[in-house]
Amino acid sequence: MDSQRPPLRTLPGRDQFPLLQAQPELIYLDSAATSQKPLAVLDAERDFYTRDYANVHRGSYQLAARATAAYEGARARVARFLNAEADEIVFTRGCTEAINLVAASWGCSLKAGDEILVSTLEHHANIVPWQLLAARCGAIVRPIPLNQDGQIDLAAFHRLLGPRTRLLAITQAANATGTRPPLAEILAAARAHGVTTLVDGAQGVVHDTHDMQALGADFYAFSGHKLFGPTGIGVLYGRGALLQDMPPWQGGGEMIESVSFDGTRFAEAPQRFEAGTPPIAQAVGLAAALDWLSQYDLAHWELHELALQHQLEAGLSLMQGVHVLARHTERAPISSLHFSGAHPYDVAQFLDARSIAARVGQHCAQPLLAHLGVSSTLRLSFGPHNTTSDVEQVLAALAETLDLLA
Ligand SMILES: Cc1ncc(COP(=O)(O)O)c(C=O)c1O
Repeated sequence: MDSQRPPLRTLPGRDQFPLLQAQPELIYLDSAATSQKPLAVLDAERDFYTRDYANVHRGSYQLAARATAAYEGARARVARFLNAEADEIVFTRGCTEAINLVAASWGCSLKAGDEILVSTLEHHANIVPWQLLAARCGAIVRPIPLNQDGQIDLAAFHRLLGPRTRLLAITQAANATGTRPPLAEILAAARAHGVTTLVDGAQGVVHDTHDMQALGADFYAFSGHKLFGPTGIGVLYGRGALLQDMPPWQGGGEMIESVSFDGTRFAEAPQRFEAGTPPIAQAVGLAAALDWLSQYDLAHWELHELALQHQLEAGLSLMQGVHVLARHTERAPISSLHFSGAHPYDVAQFLDARSIAARVGQHCAQPLLAHLGVSSTLRLSFGPHNTTSDVEQVLAALAETLDLLA
């Protein structure tokens, strides 16, 4: 069968993205915050709204049946993408909500004194839910320290794993620096200690493994909007047996089997975790994004983005006073810069005036930036539509800007 599949395409160009086509001068270097949307995803949502839209699961009419089939088809598509079962896939509003769901539901089983290990690489979305949980039940959040380069301190991590450790929460790639932790070793050690694991795949899902059997984590969370899908949809993968044992975290329609004032019975997972009308068209859009992605050679795609990152950083190394954060760690195609003698906000404004969209700030990763001794950075993150010419223009604009600000 596979031999009949068309060969994979190498890269989507700007012509796949209506916004980039309409704004030819724009150099978009903020794919780590959110990806631009391919026409295929916009078309899928529009087609769904104009042909098959109704609320799901409740209606007896044909239109509602088609909408339900599309929504549950999207769940099956995500399951195939993750090499998981459909009933292991919960749709959420995004990665943040997926992590909060685990903290609120699975977290009920924690007791005072239990320990939650959270790496210092994390986005606040993978820190604050654990702090809230700890405040509720008396558990303790233990940060996994980093070394000087900004990579996980493995020796410290192994020392932290102890008899009270119940959960490890760690990212696949840090959004602020791009750093990829040595996940295989870390997850294997956690498993050997019987520790439940949650991987934040918000950044990693684009380039790193999304095969749940290969990854071996108990929970995996990501957002559709960073993976070329719509906003308002995220995914929580939960290992089957674990998910089935977890209590609901929100109550309402869709998540029940029966309701009475004498006692309410809840639906099986994943419906148990999807109270209320779910993000129906967004799920359809996410499935379309996965179909669209599947035409491409993602390994080639990553090499392309890493080559652009290399080109950028080689150019930056010739400039005075430009520093790349966590430069010596293995990184996703994200470059986080700070400057001797210029504020990243000023640099970003100059770039914006030249139609270069780059993010500035603390990137919702204050503990990581504090460890690296900076309060904000200019972050450039690549997408498949970026080109060597984009990088040349950014380097020229940065050289000009830093001259002006000097
Ligand atoms: C590593 C990481 N985790 C979690 C999130 C939160 O994602 P969302 O805001 O889509 O829920 C982000 C968003 O930037 C992220 O980069």
